[in-house]
Amino acid sequence: MLFLKTISRAELIEFEGISMVHFFTENWEKIQNFQARPDDILIATYPKAGTTWVSYILDLLYFGNTAPERQTSQPIYMRVPFLEATFPGIPSGVDLADNMSTKPRLIKTHLPVQLVPKSFWEQNCRVVYVARNAKDNAVSFYHFDRMNMTAPEPGDWSTYLQRFKNGKTVFGPWYDHVCGFWEKKQTYSNIHYMFFEDMVEDTGRELERLCSFLGLFTPIEEREQIRKGVHFDSMKHNSMTNYSTIPLMDFKVSPFMRKGKVGDWKNHFTVTQNEQFDEHYKQKMKNSTLHFRTEI
Ligand code: A3P
Repeated sequence: MLFLKTISRAELIEFEGISMVHFFTENWEKIQNFQARPDDILIATYPKAGTTWVSYILDLLYFGNTAPERQTSQPIYMRVPFLEATFPGIPSGVDLADNMSTKPRLIKTHLPVQLVPKSFWEQNCRVVYVARNAKDNAVSFYHFDRMNMTAPEPGDWSTYLQRFKNGKTVFGPWYDHVCGFWEKKQTYSNIHYMFFEDMVEDTGRELERLCSFLGLFTPIEEREQIRKGVHFDSMKHNSMTNYSTIPLMDFKVSPFMRKGKVGDWKNHFTVTQNEQFDEHYKQKMKNSTLHFRTEI
């Protein structure tokens, strides 16, 4: 890949109270002043929770019929701008979103709830949040940081797991992220909170729930077609959704569409790591009513 040679891994920095890399902070003023429109849909996730999956589902729901050429000519990261991103060789997320005339605009963010630009709340935008159990999320993030040549050096698995527990991964602690949006939902009703595990268990059911939240009356046959199109194997072999066109990732290290499973953590955690993780998790989540499944 052309750009891989010129890209170097970023350093982890502390920014606005969380761990970050400069690729997500450089444009900060423009990000914070971003003007959301009332019909924008914000796809919010902690990294590796199923962002691309739900982005593609939303894109098909809104544009699958009306703009079929979009599906074959534009990679998903161009259709769904990553708001805070400023990567070399790709327009910034803010510029992409500002120049977008489609309705609705689908916009992706990994920012924790307290850093989401305030115009999204002021405009009462719909927010689709996807959460994934911490163990699989950590494993997926680890492999992603190995192959994402802009990410801080992940080190070995046990070092990485410790960093994850300490909240020293990019975008800060998983715990605060998932709990932050969960709490926001209590006062801001326009959030649809989804779980990766539910999507793996029954994609059709989750699609139906999503349509109901969005107020979309998508015929069953169309929903069924979407369900098939967003299957892991279809997305893995689709160059518009598998990130093979992005110059920042080294697929020789690990593919973007890696396994798409619930429970892959069992292939990574040692018995001791698992026991220590469970103990730590209990403490971190003791005040939350959120419940995750680590197997289905
Ligand atoms: P794994 O690394 O466990 O395979 P994000 O889009 O937030 O970066 O999340 C990427 C993770 O979601 C990866 O997890 C990827 O394989 C998984 N994923 C993406 N599309 C999927 C699909 N259609 N079905 C199941 N998992 C999917």
